[in-house]
Amino acid sequence: LERTFSIIKPDATARNLTGAVNAVIEKAGLRIVAQKRIQMTRAQAEEFYGVHRERPFFGELVDFMISAPVVVQVLEGENGIARYREVMGATNPENAAEGTIRKLYAKSVGENSVHGSDAPDTAKIEIAQFFAGNEIVG
Ligand code: GTP
Ligand code: MG
Repeated sequence: LERTFSIIKPDATARNLTGAVNAVIEKAGLRIVAQKRIQMTRAQAEEFYGVHRERPFFGELVDFMISAPVVVQVLEGENGIARYREVMGATNPENAAEGTIRKLYAKSVGENSVHGSDAPDTAKIEIAQFFAGNEIVG
């Protein structure tokens, strides 16, 4: 089993969609092995999205991620990283497949409801940014 890091983003928490997103995650066969609701600080958001620092939307992205609470999670399943990216759907909800979280709930390419790690090395780093080992119970 493989673990991935997930964020239910401010556009989703603000619309009370945490449970709805979790239902899609669980129906897809992924297990939520850690979860907490937090208000991200600007420093945390800037560190988390550090790879996008030079992108034109970086400021907007950081402002968005601290605009309301988020739910950070560790998900576990067979091919968990790729599986969750399938379940999330394309970054831009206009391109997302039917039944995906972003097709169902995302508002725009920026306010797109969820994050999921894109590779094993980034999953490890992202999980460690938000969870201690003993907070993850598989
Ligand atoms: P994540 O799982 O959140 O990393 O999404 P992704 O891997 O599908 O997308 P990517 O890593 O390319 O971009 C990271 C995040 O930046 C996206 O999820 C969006 O929230 C945001 N983003 C990407 N492109 C744009 C854009 O053109 N405008 C704005 N405002 N935000 C964007
Ligand atoms: Mg990404």
